[in-house]
Amino acid sequence: MAAGDSFYITTPIFYVNDVPHIGHAYTEVASDVLARWHRQRGDDTWFLTGTDEHGQKILRTAVANDTSPQAWADALVESAWKPLLETIDISNDDFIRTTEERHEKAVSLFLQRLYDDGHIYSGEYEGYYCVGCEEYKQLDDLVESADGDYAGQLVCKIHSRPVEILKEKNYFFRMSAFEQRLLDLYENTPDFVQPASVRNEIVQFVKQGLADLSISRSSFDWGIKVPWDDSHVVYVWFDALLNYVTAVGYGRDDEQFERRWPAVHIVGKDIARFHAVIWPAMLMAAGLEVPRAVFGHGWLLVGGEKMSKSKLTGIAPHEITDTFGSDAFRYYFLSAITFGQDGSFSWEDLSARYQAELANGFGNLASRVLAMVTKYFDGAIPEAASDSAILDIEKRVTDAAGAAIDVFAIDKALAVIWELVDALNLYITEQQPWVLAKDEADRERLAQVLATALHGVGTLAILLAPVLPRATAKLWSALGATGQVDAQPIDRAWEWTATGSVTPLESPLFPRIEQGE
Ligand code: MSP
Repeated sequence: MAAGDSFYITTPIFYVNDVPHIGHAYTEVASDVLARWHRQRGDDTWFLTGTDEHGQKILRTAVANDTSPQAWADALVESAWKPLLETIDISNDDFIRTTEERHEKAVSLFLQRLYDDGHIYSGEYEGYYCVGCEEYKQLDDLVESADGDYAGQLVCKIHSRPVEILKEKNYFFRMSAFEQRLLDLYENTPDFVQPASVRNEIVQFVKQGLADLSISRSSFDWGIKVPWDDSHVVYVWFDALLNYVTAVGYGRDDEQFERRWPAVHIVGKDIARFHAVIWPAMLMAAGLEVPRAVFGHGWLLVGGEKMSKSKLTGIAPHEITDTFGSDAFRYYFLSAITFGQDGSFSWEDLSARYQAELANGFGNLASRVLAMVTKYFDGAIPEAASDSAILDIEKRVTDAAGAAIDVFAIDKALAVIWELVDALNLYITEQQPWVLAKDEADRERLAQVLATALHGVGTLAILLAPVLPRATAKLWSALGATGQVDAQPIDRAWEWTATGSVTPLESPLFPRIEQGE
């Protein structure tokens, strides 16, 4: 992609029935790193996140808590979901709530358009529904519970809770009409759904044949009213998926919509089907462009199972950031888990990687280099050209990291950046600047070694700014470099030049974590 292109990236919008856990934060952080990377590349970037507030799940939670769904959503958004973004340093450009007028109006408009164009008909739905998933279920999505409270009952495979049996008059979207066009889309644009494992699952699913989709509910009223029949509310997923276009001006601001759409959607693999099947079919029906890509990431597992609040395995993001800081949170989940695959979380693994990679690997390198420039040159940046062997690594790593980001391989980008961390640490060990400093005859060589190391550290700051925004900002200012680190062109990270003087770090970038903290 050429610099300056439009890059619109979204997270799923989160259900406000409960507070966030680290699984939600993982989706946010991955999307945020991609957004920051593209911004730093000079792309015309827009990063959207938000909350999904309609439907039975929220309604029931509110009722169970003796309040209205709107009051419940307002409280959760302010007390939990917006604060999450601060906790993990999310740089979103917008935050959409599905109860906002800009969204509700545009959903009505979209629906009316589909209705007028004959894509919607009225019928009767009879079948299963899981309120946890907010999804109509087929028999093979369910299992008979072997034991526990629901022994003998049909439960949802994801939530392990009984499903409901619905029999209602509903409006249906003629999704079946888009089966072939969807298959053509997957065939002609192979990277529309990523990674390959998710793509294969989606293609298999659609090949089995697509049914029409019930897109309204009439047995409760917490939702957007169907414009031509106010005894129905819009099915929560139909409403929610539209956030991606309503937030960027669909039906309201054509110029903004033209500029931003289509988007890249980052979602958990559990909801890839909604995004890669229902959503493009809806857009096709409305004559709009399909998304640029849908990437389904893996799950955070705890004890081998998808971490979730309903199964009491939820961990709140602040439990990690309180001790390790937000940069470490961001780094850990993105480096330890192959993006697109499941990964197990453990406190031991987090502590070990924090110590080895952030504190000893990167943090210590930065402190040592700044301390030596301060000690041997009074902080004045030595004027010498970098050793070409290191500069070559800087160039290679810059290119390879950018290429990895282009294919959503965030973990690979980090692994390749760490090759530069390791190369610089090895360079210092081998060159022994403290030995060179003992002999005036080696002064020139000392200047070159420290200039090389310092330049490498600055390149690292630029490359790591999307992942470690706090540590790299602190480092950039200690390097005496001008401007903001996150404004340095990331595709040419190695081209930066150091001038002026450095100041030693007042405290380590990644302090030691005391045992038992
Ligand atoms: N509201 C819908 C999305 C609508 S988008 C138009 C929804 N919300 S959710 O709050 O349940 O989940 C949001 C995201 O969190 C999903 O991408 C989901 O995959 C992710 N995760 C929830 N638990 C997770 C893990 N344990 N691990 C990784 N991601 C997880 O679905």
